[in-house]
Amino acid sequence: MKILAIETSCDDTCCALLDVNQQSDFKILSNIMSSQIKVHAKFGGVVPSLAAREHVKNILPCLEECCGFASMGKDVDLIAVTMGPGLAPALLVGLTAAKTLSYIWQKPLIGVNHLEGHIAANFINNSQLTINNSQKLLPVMCLIVSGGHTLLVLIKKFGDYQILGETRDDAAGEAFDKIARILGLGYPGGPAVAAGAAQITNYKFQISNKLQKSNNKPKTTSMGEPFKIKLPRPMLGSGDYDFSFSGLKTAVLYNFKIQPEKVKKSKNYIQTMCGKAQQAIVDVLVAKTVKAAQEFKVKSVMMAGGVAANQSLRQSMATALHEKYPQARLILPELRFCTDNALMIALAAFFKTRQHDLAMFKNSWRDLKIAPNARLD
Ligand code: KG4
Ligand code: ZN
Repeated sequence: MKILAIETSCDDTCCALLDVNQQSDFKILSNIMSSQIKVHAKFGGVVPSLAAREHVKNILPCLEECCGFASMGKDVDLIAVTMGPGLAPALLVGLTAAKTLSYIWQKPLIGVNHLEGHIAANFINNSQLTINNSQKLLPVMCLIVSGGHTLLVLIKKFGDYQILGETRDDAAGEAFDKIARILGLGYPGGPAVAAGAAQITNYKFQISNKLQKSNNKPKTTSMGEPFKIKLPRPMLGSGDYDFSFSGLKTAVLYNFKIQPEKVKKSKNYIQTMCGKAQQAIVDVLVAKTVKAAQEFKVKSVMMAGGVAANQSLRQSMATALHEKYPQARLILPELRFCTDNALMIALAAFFKTRQHDLAMFKNSWRDLKIAPNARLD
C-alpha cells in the first residue's frame, strides 16, 4: 500500500510517500520538507498568516517532487493529512490539498493527529522496532516535547492515550525558543541553545583534560562559569506530572537584564546561560518521566517531538532510566524524524488502517475539518 502524506501544521511544508507491505515492512519512497525558517526568523517565531502563505507557495512543488502527482495518482492507495493540533491557517492549506487529491483520484483520506504522528516517528528506521513487535513494548510512557506541547502520555495500546500531565504555560520547545530570543540567538531556539550549551561542555571537558594531564587541581571551581546564574527547576517537586516553563524563561530574562552590556554580548555568558537553561529544562523533563515510568510500571519509555532531538535530554534520560528504572527500554526517534515531517503522518495513518476498514475513509474528503486544538485523548 502506498501512502501519500501531507503535513503543514506549523512552518514546514512536508510531503512523503511510504510503501507498506502485507507484513508491515515499509519502504520510504520519498520524504520532502520545505522549511520556512528564513521567513519567520526575522520575527523571532512563526507568524501564522505568513506560514499559510508559504505553504500555498510550496505545497504543489513539494507534492510534485514527492510523487510527481500529476501522473502518480493511480499508484497512491491512501492519502494522509495532519488535522491538528497546529496553526489553523497552516493546517487549512494541507487539508485542502489532501481533500482535492482524494476527490480527484478517488482515494481514501485519513486525518491524523499531529502528536500521534510524532509518536509514530519512533518506528521510522528504528532497527529495534517493527510495527509487528510494537505490542511487546506496551505499556509505554511517552514524553512529547515540541514547540507547542509538553505532555506525559501513558500509552496502554497504540491509539489509546492517557495524558498524565501537560504544561500549564509554555511548552519545552517554546521555552528554548524564547530563551534563545532573549540571548539574541535567533529562531528556532532549541538547536541554537543546544549548540551554545555544547560549547560550554566542550570547554569544561578540555579544561578538565588539561588539568588531569598536568595533575593540577583547578584554582577555582567556576572556570568557564564566572557568572552567578541560578535557575529554578519549575514544578520539580509538585507531586504531579504537570510542567511549567514560563518562570524559567523569566528567570533567564531577569539575569540577562542585570548584566552589563559587555557581558550580555560575551560568548562566555551566552554559552553559560545556554548550558544552565538547557540543564534546568532537561532536569525537570527527565525527573518527571522517570517517576511516571516507575509509578505506572511501564515496559518502555519513548520520546517524541522536536525537543527529543536534544542530545543532552537523550543522554540524561538514558542515564536516569538506567540508574532508577533499568527494567524499561528507552526508545528514541532518529534525530531527523524528531522535528516535523510527513513520514510520521503516513505511518500514523497506516496504524489506523490496521484498526479500521479502508472503505470507511473513502468519502472523508467531504467532512474532514481541521482541528487546531485537537487533543490526544
Ligand atoms: O515538533 P516540532 O518540529 O514542531 C512542533 O510540533 O512544534 O518542534 C519544534 C521545536 C522548536 O521549539 C525547536 O526549538 C525545538 O523543537 N527543537 C529543539 C531541538 N531541535 C528542535 N529543542 C532543543 N534541542 C534541539 N536540538
Ligand atoms: Zn510537531
